[in-house]
Amino acid sequence: MLTLEERPVPEPGQGEARVRMLATPVNPSDLLFVRGLYSGVEARFPAPAGFEGVGVVDALGPGAGNLAPGQRVSVVNGQGGNWADYAVVPAGDLIPVAADVPDEQAASMVVNPASAVLMLRHVLAVPRGQWLLQSAAGSQIGRMMIRLAQRDGVRTINVVRRRESVAELQALGADAVIVAADGPIDEQVREIAGPEGVRYAVDPVAGATGTQMFKALHEEGRMLVYGSLTGEPILVGDDPRYTLAGRRVVEVFWLGYWLPRLDRAARDKLTAALADLVREGVLETEPGRRYPLADITSAVTQAESTGKQGKVLLTPEA
Ligand SMILES: NC(=O)c1ccc[n+]([C@@H]2O[C@H](COP(=O)([O-])OP(=O)(O)OC[C@H]3O[C@@H](n4cnc5c(N)ncnc54)[C@H](OP(=O)(O)O)[C@@H]3O)[C@@H](O)[C@H]2O)c1
Repeated sequence: MLTLEERPVPEPGQGEARVRMLATPVNPSDLLFVRGLYSGVEARFPAPAGFEGVGVVDALGPGAGNLAPGQRVSVVNGQGGNWADYAVVPAGDLIPVAADVPDEQAASMVVNPASAVLMLRHVLAVPRGQWLLQSAAGSQIGRMMIRLAQRDGVRTINVVRRRESVAELQALGADAVIVAADGPIDEQVREIAGPEGVRYAVDPVAGATGTQMFKALHEEGRMLVYGSLTGEPILVGDDPRYTLAGRRVVEVFWLGYWLPRLDRAARDKLTAALADLVREGVLETEPGRRYPLADITSAVTQAESTGKQGKVLLTPEA
């Protein structure tokens, strides 16, 4: 159960900063966390929620570094707690935000944008001219992948569950859009990419969609599974045509694994690239409805609705 509680304003400890939150998204990972289904962070309920957001540095603990009170920052809170008026986090985790980036972009500037860049450019490192197959393509990160792939000369095949998404994604630059209900995804993909299938795929849906995407892989294809929107398993062993030939790879992608493994220089380079790509619109987040913290139940209901437009934001001062 989600409830709003009054608590004393938290004090920052050694190396920590207190941030007054301006806007914080309701992301699928938050929804898994509040249900006790997020394996990345162990929840001991009652627990504060909210992993991402933007705010203003409000107070600094001893040894908190060079940040100045009043500085606007992007806040990735690995322990959760950004769905609040104030959050206390390690100062080193805060990313200063340039004045020309609006709050609604800065609020979602890390989780989806960094995952899109790391999956496409670093983990899969998809070469120009190749096909990338993705599911839940109408999601905010799916839209980022379409624009980033187009910029990098990668062609995308995009799987959606609603026919209404097709024209929208074509307008964004999708090379092909297929509706899952129109027939086995692997058959639809081979008609577009050729009989050998695709070498690269990313799937946050799992279940029947992930299973059919696995079957759309080239014999040396690789698929990153980065979500579980259906909560159902992917079957890789049910058809020997795909498991007794080739060397297809299914691999987990989790930003919480990759980000801490970047050294300081690589992290700075990534955050600079994210800021540029957000400004250029490539990694833009479409703003959705805004809710005050007190209306958390409506915010979550909206975030989980089928066909919602944009990213739902909690705005503590709304
Ligand atoms: N592993 C990581 O580090 C990482 C990082 C970032 C994001 N993610 C994952 O990426 C996914 C998308 O995140 P987001 O913030 O972009 O989400 P979002 O904007 O809220 O969009 C969710 C999308 O998923 C689709 N969807 C929801 N349930 C579905 C189902 N059962 N079957 C098929 N499609 C379904 C929706 O389709 P409709 O448009 O038809 O409603 C919508 O397009 C989430 O699973 C999230 O956890 C993972």
